[in-house]
Amino acid sequence: MKVLVTGGAGFIASHIVDLLVDLGHEVAILDNFSTGREENVNAKVEVFKMDILDSRTLEVFLKFKPEIVIHHAAQIDIQSSIKDPAFDASTNVIGTIKLLEACKSSGIRKFIYASSAAVYGNPQYLPVDETHPIRPLSYYGISKHTPEHYLEVFSQQNKLDYTILRYANVYGIRQDPKGEGGVISIFIDKLLSEHKPVIYGDGEQTRDFIYVKDIARANIAALNSGSKGIYNISCNHQTSVNDLLRMISRLSNIETYPSYREIRVGDILHSYLDNSAAKKDLKWEPQYTLRDGLQETCNYYLKQNTNS
Ligand SMILES: NC(=O)c1ccc[n+]([C@@H]2O[C@H](COP(=O)([O-])OP(=O)(O)OC[C@H]3O[C@@H](n4cnc5c(N)ncnc54)[C@H](O)[C@@H]3O)[C@@H](O)[C@H]2O)c1
Repeated sequence: MKVLVTGGAGFIASHIVDLLVDLGHEVAILDNFSTGREENVNAKVEVFKMDILDSRTLEVFLKFKPEIVIHHAAQIDIQSSIKDPAFDASTNVIGTIKLLEACKSSGIRKFIYASSAAVYGNPQYLPVDETHPIRPLSYYGISKHTPEHYLEVFSQQNKLDYTILRYANVYGIRQDPKGEGGVISIFIDKLLSEHKPVIYGDGEQTRDFIYVKDIARANIAALNSGSKGIYNISCNHQTSVNDLLRMISRLSNIETYPSYREIRVGDILHSYLDNSAAKKDLKWEPQYTLRDGLQETCNYYLKQNTNS
């Protein structure tokens, strides 16, 4: 199958690209390399270095002729979305609309969209299922949710199938610890550089952490299932930030004492996502426990650290 992956030089989508290539699919990536990195790019794929807002994206679609588009290019930083909501909306909302217009003009069969648990806001009940009210606490949550509506209406007006995957907190190799990256990559980075990790709030806030290789498998499952569906992709399990740091410290054999700071605007207290719909319709379930995923991630960075 020919698959175009936007954001394919980034953390999550580069793993999806690797799995697609391993499974024998023909893959191209479209990425502006704003946070993506050359070293993440699989050598077997065609690379279109371009912004999703660029009107020339249609030329990419017409040249590569994908059957499926997997869309991950986005502004992903919650705090940046609060500082600059217009930029956030332009990338995440307008950027997605531009891609849908290119899909229409080039006869794409299916669009797989990376959405986020951020669309739900503070959970009213746990675990959060897909029918939970949508009350985002950040502009990022709004800009990830709005394209879901566009997809639904766009699909009614045009013959485009879609699947929406709402990810819990994703972690693993290649996640950028700089700036506002995922908490796990930040903790590992701090431990290895012998700095104190910072915890916002008392650390008893909980999250549902899902390993990036399980996310890649969910996208593969969505190539041929989950038509016009919305699915939480998660472990259905909550872990506190304090427990998480203790696990990373144990697995990497590095003792650490965090410094605690005030909780930030837009941070959710407790969350975990019900993944039973994905299990049923996509025939997908996570293969990695948090311990196994953390062990693989820590081993990778410990090895890199000793080699450098
Ligand atoms: N990391 C998480 O925990 C998480 C959770 C839920 C949803 N998501 C979603 O998954 C997707 C990928 O996130 P990630 O963590 O891999 O982030 P990332 O920053 O590593 O990847 C994003 C990629 O998109 C590219 N990009 C950004 N703006 C672009 C633009 N205007 N045009 C073209 N390319 C552009 C970047 O260069 C980068 O390669 C995003 O859509 C994000 O909202 C991530």
